[in-house]
Amino acid sequence: MKVTVVGAGAVGASCAEYIAIKNFASEVVLVDIKENFAEGKAMDLMQTASLNGFDTKITGSTNDYSKTAGSNIAVITSGIPRKPGMTREELIGINAGIVKSVSEQLIKYSPDVILIIVSNPMDTMTYLTHKVTGLPKNRIIGMGGALDSARFKYRLAEAMECPTSDIDGMVIGGHSDKGMVPLTRLATRNSVRVSEFLPAERLQKVLEDTKVGGATLTGMLGTSAWYAPGAAVSGLVQAIACDQQKMFPCSVLLEGEFGLNDLCIGVPVILGKNGIEKIVEINLDEAELSQLQASAVGVKATNTLLNDLNL
Ligand code: 2OP
Repeated sequence: MKVTVVGAGAVGASCAEYIAIKNFASEVVLVDIKENFAEGKAMDLMQTASLNGFDTKITGSTNDYSKTAGSNIAVITSGIPRKPGMTREELIGINAGIVKSVSEQLIKYSPDVILIIVSNPMDTMTYLTHKVTGLPKNRIIGMGGALDSARFKYRLAEAMECPTSDIDGMVIGGHSDKGMVPLTRLATRNSVRVSEFLPAERLQKVLEDTKVGGATLTGMLGTSAWYAPGAAVSGLVQAIACDQQKMFPCSVLLEGEFGLNDLCIGVPVILGKNGIEKIVEINLDEAELSQLQASAVGVKATNTLLNDLNL
């Protein structure tokens, strides 16, 4: 199992590290445009192999995509991260061109690859990847909901002062500060609805804190977060690599599901060896469905910016 991670910055390197530590991939290739940066990150990570007990071979390449040839899965994290006060959508002018050229290079050397997009604005970058590559929809996956759901569970556990492992919850919708749809109605603490533990106003704060989870950390760190994003995308890679048939909220191209068309947005999907095995059209109540559809309006508005960039 060969995995490429494009972008050896904090998110990409964290993703590579978590993939290696989980020890399901034979090889991880890190690619970056900065001279020797990916090679250095790969060497540093390989020097943890005896300490962290993995056999995965991590190599680095300065923009030589021939080294990625034959990748089964490729993760695109390249582009600029947010600065405090920025929205993800403001990154489109720079990141769209990067994602276009990176995805073209990846499929040139790995025509059967499954692509996972992390670069922001992620839902629009995922949609752009469809336009650029023409790959079948099951092989283009946007990572946002897995990260947002992890932040949702963190906030729920914080509110209930319980272990995060007790919590189950999912965030669907756009990966944006305003567009996320945390499914508070369906969230549980060990199979019991969280609404039995938290009053409505506290649940509302959990929902609001979840939606700005990325921006909160960007304000604290001065740049986008990387540990949770890296861990979230490594979980998607593992589900595909190990054919886990696991359900995640992922940004995928919709063609009528949930009444939505011609956009990529976070919905529940089953991930396995074919990438997206199935889109799961769960029963949403009226409020949830209208929130998802309102979120779709925001994602489509960002997608139209691609026209201004001639993409
Ligand atoms: C985040 O929310 C980078 O979009 C990612 O942290």
